[in-house]
Amino acid sequence: MTDKHPVYAKIDGPIVMIGYGSIGKGTLPLIERHFTVDRSKITVIDPSEAGRDMLEREGIRFIHQPVTRDNYKHLLGPLLTAGPGQGFCVNLSVDTSSLDIMEYCREIGALYVDTVVEPWAGFYFDSSKGPEARSNYALRETVLAARRRNPGGTTAVSCCGANPGMVSWFVKQALVNLKKDLGVPGDEPVTREGWAELARTLGVKGIHIAERDTQRAKKPKPRQVFVNTWSVEGFVSEGLQPAELGWGTHERWMPENGRTHAEGCGSAIYLLQPGADTRVRSWTPTAQAQFGFLVTHNESISIADYLTVRDAAGTAVYRPTCHYAYHPCDDAVLSLHEMFGQAGARQPEHHILDENEIVDGIDELGVLLFGHGKNAYWYGSQLSIEETRMLAPYQNATGMQVSSAVLAGMVWAIENPTAGIVEADDMDYKRCLEVQMPYLGPVVGVYTDWTPLDGRPGFFPEDIDTADPWQFRNILVR
Ligand SMILES: NC(=O)c1ccc[n+]([C@@H]2O[C@H](COP(=O)([O-])OP(=O)(O)OC[C@H]3O[C@@H](n4cnc5c(N)ncnc54)[C@H](O)[C@@H]3O)[C@@H](O)[C@H]2O)c1
Repeated sequence: MTDKHPVYAKIDGPIVMIGYGSIGKGTLPLIERHFTVDRSKITVIDPSEAGRDMLEREGIRFIHQPVTRDNYKHLLGPLLTAGPGQGFCVNLSVDTSSLDIMEYCREIGALYVDTVVEPWAGFYFDSSKGPEARSNYALRETVLAARRRNPGGTTAVSCCGANPGMVSWFVKQALVNLKKDLGVPGDEPVTREGWAELARTLGVKGIHIAERDTQRAKKPKPRQVFVNTWSVEGFVSEGLQPAELGWGTHERWMPENGRTHAEGCGSAIYLLQPGADTRVRSWTPTAQAQFGFLVTHNESISIADYLTVRDAAGTAVYRPTCHYAYHPCDDAVLSLHEMFGQAGARQPEHHILDENEIVDGIDELGVLLFGHGKNAYWYGSQLSIEETRMLAPYQNATGMQVSSAVLAGMVWAIENPTAGIVEADDMDYKRCLEVQMPYLGPVVGVYTDWTPLDGRPGFFPEDIDTADPWQFRNILVR
């Protein structure tokens, strides 16, 4: 053990990594660095050959195959139960059902972590499904139902990347910082109800997962290639789902194409338009005021759900609005523009920028808590590509924020092996951030007096609510 790279645990059992794309490649070295593991017990499964050479060089077993609805038990069962020691399934793939794999892992007593509630292949582009059925709200409800059916038991960590994932820990740290700065007395909350009550007491009307990715490619984006700093497939899939947001109790207006859900926790709404073609006004320290895309994400729904205060009858009396406001790297913005310009027809080629293809830039990813006594507070990571290259191999700044959250999720699962199905909101945020912090570059808290009404109306009349700057009506670009 060194102070720089603490070893958190010994993993005796087999580790199965599903998916070896941009996040898998970055996560594997962190696993080997921070756990005592026997390399011969690690298996990577991926239908793409792209990582084969790298894995063979490292002496890691590679199974070249897709995990599918038909083969997942047959394929994963023997691998994860090849004892001695408890198996650990690290799911970093697209097109595999998080729910099915997580439930099966719990059945056979293997720990599990993923970074998204992913469905089996075909779900995102199934035109027979309506927008509600294609929502992340619906996907999350399937995981919540599994938890209700089988409470407790072997730990499965759902959605433990940067966002969803780390940002839920940032929200708690930001609430604690805000509490101190606003001089609100009392101890730090220890229950879900306590955190929700604190958010209400502080007067937090809403939370943006406010991100600006300034990583610039050495080569300009070619036409008809979708370029991004992480999974193009993942981003395009979620970008074409309906825009979704945790829906706050302070909202006085809903867009005409906004829809609520009749079933489930009720914390979110969706819009009848794709998230990656939905712009919102937001703020990060580097960008200052900026447009972000309201791409649907699990954390928009889970954080809003977690921070809901209900009365004795179960009616929500407080909930913050919560959504993603994502300005991806400039090449991804151009790629979206190109894709939506051709009515959502996806480019034939994908490219994920690796750490050697980027000139400079940071992934500035944090949470913007607004509407309280100090207006708005951004708390988050400003990790640069230069620092990332020095911290760990095979990833850019975006990937590092995700892989280090996966690492934190694994540490937490090993330390809490019988916690059942959990989301990042349910985990010990301090422990998780302690593990993750060395990989996040500068982590800062910044107050701003910006509101979405700044400079408005300009030359033209606008449909705005001047009585409350923090209405979604003012945030949504129409
Ligand atoms: N929570 C977060 O912060 C966060 C951030 C980035 C990515 N993610 C998610 O993590 C996952 C991985 O992201 P990435 O950037 O590495 O994506 P990627 O596109 O680079 O890699 C995905 C990998 O999954 C593999 N794959 C496809 N079908 C498969 C199957 N049936 N079985 C096994 N593997 C299969 C692909 O071949 C590919 O190598 C995605 O689901 C993405 O949405 C989450």
